[in-house]
Amino acid sequence: MKLKNKRFLVIGGAGFIGSHTVEYLIKNDVKEVIVFDNFFRGKKENLMSSLNSKKVKVLEHGGDILQNDILENSLMGIDGVFHFAALWLLQCHEYPESAFKTNVEGTFNVINSCRKKKIKKIVFSSSASVYGDALEEPMPETHPFNSKNFYGSTKIAGEAMLNAFHYRYNQNYVGLRYMNVYGPRQDYSGAYVAVIMKMLDSIDKNEYVTIFGSGKESFDFVSVKDCARANILAMESEIKQGFYNIGTGKKTSLIKLANTLYNILGKKKKIRFKKNTNSTLVKNRIGCIKKAAHDLKYVSKFDLEKGLKELILWRENHKKKNEEK
Ligand SMILES: NC(=O)c1ccc[n+]([C@@H]2O[C@H](COP(=O)([O-])OP(=O)(O)OC[C@H]3O[C@@H](n4cnc5c(N)ncnc54)[C@H](O)[C@@H]3O)[C@@H](O)[C@H]2O)c1
Repeated sequence: MKLKNKRFLVIGGAGFIGSHTVEYLIKNDVKEVIVFDNFFRGKKENLMSSLNSKKVKVLEHGGDILQNDILENSLMGIDGVFHFAALWLLQCHEYPESAFKTNVEGTFNVINSCRKKKIKKIVFSSSASVYGDALEEPMPETHPFNSKNFYGSTKIAGEAMLNAFHYRYNQNYVGLRYMNVYGPRQDYSGAYVAVIMKMLDSIDKNEYVTIFGSGKESFDFVSVKDCARANILAMESEIKQGFYNIGTGKKTSLIKLANTLYNILGKKKKIRFKKNTNSTLVKNRIGCIKKAAHDLKYVSKFDLEKGLKELILWRENHKKKNEEK
């Protein structure tokens, strides 16, 4: 779909990946971008620079994907929908019922409302979590779904529903399976923070960085900016239906990650290893990005070390600002 003069609804647009996507969207000659978010985890401050643009609005009447009437109403005159709203991995682990409500029922509501309002395309945030541990490296999109956790299972359900709506009602969609996303605006203080933020926190406090496992566990760390661009490419593409890995195609072990963070910060290394007893944590996950490169013209543009420096700088400034408040 050509983006020119089109109107987009960004569900979960005040969150981490969503807010970066809004920023990329308004660099294009789109007509309007409406953010639909219940601010459960999203923040207005994530949209600060975007809200300087007259093209961007935050939905006035709230925005919860469990409120069908408000959801359907917000889709009036919309051309394309980006769907980011979800509960995160560890939260789904602790609260499976809420995970089902938001990630499965909520996603059904989004797709069904889009179908009713004849939305041209949905770009859905899936996850590499659908795969579980990698049986081959890098994992192609045909890799089996070996997820063993609730989060992964909700994403599998979301993907399956999109497929069913496509074949039953011709609802077009692209689903993006992001690898491990990092970058500015990533949550670093809540109950559910990702591995890079946990490591930075320990380094800040001069505590040991704890690696659960041997340190050889490897992941594909991808910049949030690559993910945001991938969303735009997915909406722009002529693809009517499909799932794509979004990562860098490169693997980084946890020990290398910890060492890189220590080197950037110039601090003395304190790393310890503990047995991994957490069933939500996979050991290996690197995505093959050939299909996304071919169909969506996606390439990863951000080098990990450069990206980590940017993240560290943002985190330090953000912490300082919060302390001054
Ligand atoms: N961050 C990652 O590493 C990663 C990796 C793979 C997939 N994903 C997926 O990408 C998407 C975006 O992730 P993120 O890291 O930006 O998460 P995030 O939590 O920062 O953003 C999600 C947004 O959805 C909103 N939201 C939650 N429940 C809602 C509801 N019921 N109605 C309306 N809005 C609601 C939140 O307030 C938040 O702003 C999610 O679907 C996530 O599962 C993220």
